[in-house]
Amino acid sequence: MKIKAKYILVITLIVFNAAIMLSAGQFPVWDVPEEVSSVENAVESTKKSIENGRAHYNLLCASCHGTIGDGNGVQLSANLISDEVQAQTDGALYYKIRQGRDLMPGFSTLPETQIWEVVHYLRSLVSSKEEIIKKPAKIELKLIDQDSMRIIQAVAFSISEDGSKIPLADVKLDIIVLRMFGNLNLNNGPVYTDEQGMVSAVFPDDLPADTAGFVVVGAQLDNPEWEAEMVSQKIDWGAEWEYIDITKKRSLWAVGKLAPWWVLVSFLGAIGAAWLLIVFVMLELKKINKAGKAS
Ligand code: HEC
Repeated sequence: MKIKAKYILVITLIVFNAAIMLSAGQFPVWDVPEEVSSVENAVESTKKSIENGRAHYNLLCASCHGTIGDGNGVQLSANLISDEVQAQTDGALYYKIRQGRDLMPGFSTLPETQIWEVVHYLRSLVSSKEEIIKKPAKIELKLIDQDSMRIIQAVAFSISEDGSKIPLADVKLDIIVLRMFGNLNLNNGPVYTDEQGMVSAVFPDDLPADTAGFVVVGAQLDNPEWEAEMVSQKIDWGAEWEYIDITKKRSLWAVGKLAPWWVLVSFLGAIGAAWLLIVFVMLELKKINKAGKAS
């Protein structure tokens, strides 16, 4: 009995540990032989080769490593825009992409030039980021509460040297309601500002709020040239709920659809399982402690 409990405990801890390591995205150090890391990129870095690399990357790698290379794809993987990865030589990256390891498949069947192009693209993911310095802009929110309709207006503008506001026309400005999982866009789809730098959205009467009827509305700019801090404001326009029903349409999820059942099951299941595991380990520890005292 005593031995069995110990086994269970050890296995539980190993699984728990592995889960934590995986969720933190920590992989064991991956060193490559000196002779491969000194190999130079066989393809010249040009607009064309980077563009080719992007195509291969999006097809073969983005599902795991994410479209921007931060490792947040569908599957767990390494962050390719991290300093650790970017500090490696082209030769080392080439070698790893060809060889693969554990969950990372090897791409030895891919033509060599294509792998080198992907390496150029990986470099461009960080270098292009540094080049983009966005110009500062601002957003103002205006709430209009009429008898028949509630409207949220947002205006985007930049400030000129003499301090006056210059409206930003034709920039994508989203009016949103903040939700636990992402933001609900009140204009289904992208909207662009008019000549006055303005967009507006009708606030739906039936939008679920918290128990007191409060919701947080905001506006955010999505533009490659301009950058503005998101603005938000807490208002009491929402429909009141006696309790927050997470299966309710739009109460948790950003999209207008009902959360699919499997998302709910896995979300609640994961929380439940974590708690069960903690309780279980504690009980087992207690048992071992007791057994230790008895013998
Ligand atoms: C099935 C998911 C998956 C796919 C597809 C995938 N990778 Fe990976 N990749 C991983 C995982 C997981 C690791 C971490 C492996 C490890 O360290 O044991 C990794 C590691 C790497 C590393 C090493 C990072 C380091 O820490 O040094 C590079 C470079 C890399 N991947 C590039 C690519 C490229 C380029 C492609 C496409 C050609 C690709 N990967 C496709 C999952 C994937």
